[in-house]
Amino acid sequence: MSRFPPGFVFGVATSSYQIEGAADEDGRGPSIWDTFCRTPGKVAHAHNGDVACDHYHRWRDDIALMKGLHAGAYRFSVAWPRIFPTGLEATPNRAGLDFYGRLVDGLLEAGISPWMTLYHWDLPQGLQDRGGWAERDTVAHFERYADAVTRHLGDRVKHVITHNEPWCVAMLGHMNGEHAPGHKDWPEALRVVHHVLLSHGRAVPIVRANAPGAQVGITLNLVPGYPASPSAADADATRHFDGFFNRWYLDPLYRRSYPEDMVADYAALGRLPTGMDFVRPGDLDAIAAPTDFLGINYYSRAILRNETTPEAENLPRTIEEPGKDARTDIGWEVYPDGLRDLLVRVAKDYAPPALVITENGASYFTAPSDDGAIHDTARLDYLRTHLGACVDAIAEGVPLTGYFAWSLMDNFEWAWGYDQRFGLVWVDYATQARTPKDSALWYAEVMRTGALQQVAPV
Ligand code: FCB
Repeated sequence: MSRFPPGFVFGVATSSYQIEGAADEDGRGPSIWDTFCRTPGKVAHAHNGDVACDHYHRWRDDIALMKGLHAGAYRFSVAWPRIFPTGLEATPNRAGLDFYGRLVDGLLEAGISPWMTLYHWDLPQGLQDRGGWAERDTVAHFERYADAVTRHLGDRVKHVITHNEPWCVAMLGHMNGEHAPGHKDWPEALRVVHHVLLSHGRAVPIVRANAPGAQVGITLNLVPGYPASPSAADADATRHFDGFFNRWYLDPLYRRSYPEDMVADYAALGRLPTGMDFVRPGDLDAIAAPTDFLGINYYSRAILRNETTPEAENLPRTIEEPGKDARTDIGWEVYPDGLRDLLVRVAKDYAPPALVITENGASYFTAPSDDGAIHDTARLDYLRTHLGACVDAIAEGVPLTGYFAWSLMDNFEWAWGYDQRFGLVWVDYATQARTPKDSALWYAEVMRTGALQQVAPV
């Protein structure tokens, strides 16, 4: 039986817009996701987060649920527009701060350690109206917001994640338009990355000042790339993909620079028409502010093939091939070895003081059976094999200190609406009843014992 080291953190994760609902309550302002959900054709079935899992009213039950599952930690995010409804107010909205204060107190009473993410994609619409993350001013607004939240909660919250997945914010939100605010503009997307990273770096000392002794980090979604063939062309496609997905974030955070090969690729592709003019003196030092851990969200890998196009003759046009084996309902290949490879590589190349898996999980619909139970064997296998990859990485010397399953419960899966279910707990959206799936009961045993069970105890 594989054991995790003593003190290893086991938890579950969610985010504000995906679970809270209560969109108009207690002074919350609209976020870019409220707007996006109301834009025809953007979200499946025009679903939205108005009610979601109604967590804003059911948070006490949800804490009891987590306690019943032996969760040691809970990763949640704060909705910026509950704190600054338009982003521009002079003072924070007390009712919004109080909601998270009650949540944090409830978690601590239940013996669950709060891991708080400041930005999981719900930018106040008022800031988007002024240009959002494409505007440098948004960095200062984020600093104010980070200050208000950590001033209020810093005495009780000892793990803070500044941002969730800057790649998604920039690329899904501003390059291919699949996420809010739905722009399709390469130069803008690269500017957005920089402003998001800068706001992270600027927030780190603020969080440290307000939350003495807190561990601070950022969460990246990283995807290990593998060439489709041993050809030099596919190796180059893989280099380009790795630069686009991983190094463009890791290098500034840990090496004070953007990767030169990628700056050259982007320039040649016309994606930097005015160069890297958004980088000002001192920015890269600010971004590389020392942190305590790097959060990694891992779901799958990519397989890369090069197809040179007339558009850019000597540059790899990096094509992703479909994964070889099993896929989850969202279409992502199940590839646990990628998690081990990724952890080993990041630890070797960037040496963060600690690594934490802040999300990992699988979308499988698996509805309740006639017996009322949810036999989600595929999700259980996914978690078991990925936790196994974590054990392997630790054995190889990776300083991995925690693992959060995505997600505590089924919730609003962004552009997919409620079609994709990632939860350990089934949510009946008509009644808001929560039912732990088999995977939850299994993972509860892992969290309780710190050991990977061989067979599901269900
Ligand atoms: C990640 C997001 C999270 C969830 C999972 C499936 O990219 O951080 O909110 O949607 O994917």
